[in-house]
Amino acid sequence: MKNREFLWGASTSAFQIEGAYNEGGKGLATTDVRKVPEGMADTKVAADHYHHWKEDVDLMAELGLKTYRMGFSWSRIMPDETLTPNPEGLAFYDELIDYLLEKGIEPFVTLYHFECPQALVEAFGGWKSRKMVDAYLKYAEVCFTHFKGRVKYWVTVNEQFIATAAPDLAMPYEPDAHLRSKWIYQISYHVSLAEHAAMALLRTVDPSAKIGPVNSMQVVYPLTSKPEDVLAAQEAEEMMEFYLLDMSVYGQYSPFAATWLKQRDLYPETLPEDEAVLQGSKPDFIGVNYYFSVCAKAEKKPFDFTTSFFWAGDDCLVVANPNLKKTEWMNMGTDAIGLYNGMRKIYERYRLPMIVTENGIAVSESLGEDGKIHDDYREEYLREHIQQIEKLEAEGYPVFGYCPWSFIDVLSSHQGFSKRYGLVFIDRTETDPKMCERVKKDSFYWYQSVIAQNGTEGL
Ligand code: BG6
Repeated sequence: MKNREFLWGASTSAFQIEGAYNEGGKGLATTDVRKVPEGMADTKVAADHYHHWKEDVDLMAELGLKTYRMGFSWSRIMPDETLTPNPEGLAFYDELIDYLLEKGIEPFVTLYHFECPQALVEAFGGWKSRKMVDAYLKYAEVCFTHFKGRVKYWVTVNEQFIATAAPDLAMPYEPDAHLRSKWIYQISYHVSLAEHAAMALLRTVDPSAKIGPVNSMQVVYPLTSKPEDVLAAQEAEEMMEFYLLDMSVYGQYSPFAATWLKQRDLYPETLPEDEAVLQGSKPDFIGVNYYFSVCAKAEKKPFDFTTSFFWAGDDCLVVANPNLKKTEWMNMGTDAIGLYNGMRKIYERYRLPMIVTENGIAVSESLGEDGKIHDDYREEYLREHIQQIEKLEAEGYPVFGYCPWSFIDVLSSHQGFSKRYGLVFIDRTETDPKMCERVKKDSFYWYQSVIAQNGTEGL
């Protein structure tokens, strides 16, 4: 890498690793009350990071991390609807952040990663209500003020696309399919308002700190060269990615997105004073989460709210790319070049520095007879993807960091511990947390060499 300041990092999120769901004065989060299928791990223990945080930071230091992309648990910092800060929660993050800094690791902190206090959903409907914008702002203010000078990078919201498309994490259950969809766009609009209010606030509290969204990058290729399919791919990217990034960066919908929403009676309710909020701030960077690419083809169909890609629209169908190799957990296949394609497009549309905040491969893993994990497949996935970042950098695109998902094995967002992404294995099963012993995988040592020599050459 030419860029000597490059932030080599690794990622986690609070609810996926911390455990201790009811310790230290923490309130229940939406992710704590969500129903988990029988026999699947939940947030109660997760990777037990709450009790292993020091050991985890020592491992990060051994790995050579320059940054650690982590999350704060909103319900640990503000347990209930009174929004009173919980001193024990803040003390937990104080110790963690201070120790990271002592080890020379820059904390890169996400404020909102798929969870909020359940009390806010019960009190006023969570993101359905504009009260959530004020609640989020209060939470952000506590964090910005308390960690001023120590946290220099903030993420407003992780994957607004997924966070709002899974409304059980953000609002009460809505049985009517059309209404549910309407609410998804409404809560997403509230999230955008909250994000802009927080970005503006940080400028006054700590002007030297940087802030931005983390985008769930959607790389959609046309399934064929038919012009209709090319248009379908464009539409899918617009409605699964750019509509949200446009709100984060420009504070407005593209003409296409606005019309699309209005034609389907999905356009959110807005107030005249919102425009000043939405256009009053701009992010410093865009975080990119990327796992795989997909294809789209033109096809008129009714909305099917049960499929994960329903947001792509009712004019196109999202399907797997027949040219890619699929694996057990990566059923759309893997595509390193997609990382390059997607990031180039983002830069061309927004002209902001970018950092990869998540990128990884899920695999079922258990300790071998030698007590180790020989994950050469993970090395291969990471190598191919980092090489695309090196290509972007060589071509002059401003990428300032790369964080594999995940540092340690985490509780999947919806599939427990059966699929694993970590550089460090957590010795637990779905139902038995055992001691959550940490075991370094082969990929840990490989990534350590990449960081040490500042790039993949020869590795
Ligand atoms: C991203 C999220 O969407 O993908 C992570 O930011 C998540 O929280 C990751 O864990 C992988 O998805 P999953 O569903 O395999 O856990």
